[in-house]
Amino acid sequence: MYPLFRHRVLITILLGIIFLFTFWPTNKQLNRPLYVTSPINKGAKTNTEPGPNIDAIRSTIITDVSGNQKEYLNSKGYITFLSIFKKQHQAMLKNLIRSADIAVANTSVYSVILKPQLPPSNDPHDYMSLSRYFWPDPTKSDGLPYINKDGYSNPEFFAVTDYVLLRKMFKDVLDMGFAYFFTRNETYVKKSMYRIKEWFLDEKTKMNPNLNYAGLRKGDAMGLHTGVLDFHQVFR
Ligand SMILES: *[C@@H]1O[C@H](CO)[C@@H](O)[C@H](O)[C@H]1NC(C)=O
Ligand SMILES: *[C@@H]1O[C@H](CO)[C@@H](O)[C@H](O)[C@H]1NC(C)=O
Repeated sequence: MYPLFRHRVLITILLGIIFLFTFWPTNKQLNRPLYVTSPINKGAKTNTEPGPNIDAIRSTIITDVSGNQKEYLNSKGYITFLSIFKKQHQAMLKNLIRSADIAVANTSVYSVILKPQLPPSNDPHDYMSLSRYFWPDPTKSDGLPYINKDGYSNPEFFAVTDYVLLRKMFKDVLDMGFAYFFTRNETYVKKSMYRIKEWFLDEKTKMNPNLNYAGLRKGDAMGLHTGVLDFHQVFR
């Protein structure tokens, strides 16, 4: 039993050494420019411009029986690639958890009833947003109805808080949803449910299920058809 075992160890080491000698990049390979040969048309002119030598250590050039050279990512390349990928993933996760924790910690109310002006229905539970590119008409004493100045965003748009809070609610729920996916921490689920109930269901804070006053042009009785775009983030 014991000598057989030793045998296997020796054979494994030997195979390992052969493997290393076969695949270890030699100096010749490292300094060799990466030529590109068209595998389709072998008679085509070869591009003799030097390739990215700096990366040669991460790739191995293999020439096939027809003399075509191909560049392969070697094990060193894979390890580099994976470590970069892992670092990016960790940084992404850290940012995500930070955003989700901020969303959990926020105790403010997110609701349509907080807007400082009422929609034409006079019901604060109706969602309202202003049409962004509409401005007071200077030829009218009250400026109504507003006129279009395409491309010029009216800052009044942000005074009606529904639009901003709706987006904040969507973003918080999205961040907390992903944070739960990666951490399985139930706190994120509870707060997401709290936010969704607060926005859509709770008697005191709910939004009525309509977008009648989304994209409202001041002076009109109803919002514009483009107002439905306020909700496009629900598809995320
Ligand atoms: C879950 O997340 C909350 C909110 O960020 C945090 O306070 C809590 O410590 C986390 N729980 C666990 C078990 O990690
Ligand atoms: C909580 O969210 C509200 C609405 O977006 C925001 O105005 C407020 O600054 C946030 N609070 C904190 C502590 O981040």
